[in-house]
Amino acid sequence: MAVSGAKPMGATDEAGAARAVRQMFDSIAPRYDLLNHVLSANVDRLWWRRAARRFRCILERPEAEVLDICCGTGDMTMALLKWRPKGARPVLAADFSRNMLERGARKFGPGARAGAPYAVPIEADALHLPLGDASLDLIVTAFGFRNLANYEAGLTEFHRALKPGGRLGILEFSEPGGWLGKAYAVYFRRVLPAIGRAIIGREGPYSYLPASVGSFPPPAELLALMRRVGYGECAWQPYTFGIAGLYTAVR
Ligand SMILES: C[S@@+](CC[C@H](N)C(=O)[O-])C[C@H]1O[C@@H](n2cnc3c(N)ncnc32)[C@H](O)[C@@H]1O
Repeated sequence: MAVSGAKPMGATDEAGAARAVRQMFDSIAPRYDLLNHVLSANVDRLWWRRAARRFRCILERPEAEVLDICCGTGDMTMALLKWRPKGARPVLAADFSRNMLERGARKFGPGARAGAPYAVPIEADALHLPLGDASLDLIVTAFGFRNLANYEAGLTEFHRALKPGGRLGILEFSEPGGWLGKAYAVYFRRVLPAIGRAIIGREGPYSYLPASVGSFPPPAELLALMRRVGYGECAWQPYTFGIAGLYTAVR
């Protein structure tokens, strides 16, 4: 099974791939939210909310330890926070792009939340989490997993940090099949990079997006990898005709 990790253009090894991804997100951080909402016509909001709702039983427990990894500018984190009761332990929100994380912290950090449940920003690499073994009840990641330089290493690191019985949720794009898939491919591979280019004024990040989705393993392959790493109850739920989907698993 040839599942490895993200390969941004020009990167020759995993360290180079991670560096290229971090630099890319650092550079697009100021326009990231605008681009996201324009390019997805705000459907991304529904996906974040739906994914968070899936884990409400854990999120509603005040003592639950929750990590949003690859949190970026924090919209998934905000969706998770909606389910946290008053006085709950803060959510941990981690990303290795300082520029993305700083923008996220302005939304979810303690200073922004006036007594409401908040998240603690952590600058960290998903492949080397600064967290103890078996310390988390839930790890969620939205549209970040695809960018990891090594998917198996990412799943293994999440498995290490989850408590036995802890849950993993990976929200990611996928490529739908059939006529919709064909129409969507035109939007995703031609229209979307052109809009992205127009908004940020250069080639690159929004050509990387369709390329990275195209080379991401299809659901059956990723589920097989999750099982191989040691997860149980592995499943994939398509969202919006399979344009995106939520992978779930239990340590
Ligand atoms: C497409 S953005 C998604 C952000 C946010 N979760 C959302 O749904 O909008 C991907 C994020 O993953 C982060 N990322 C990619 N690889 C990472 C890694 N190895 N460790 C930590 N963060 C990573 C990037 O810096 C970026 O902020």
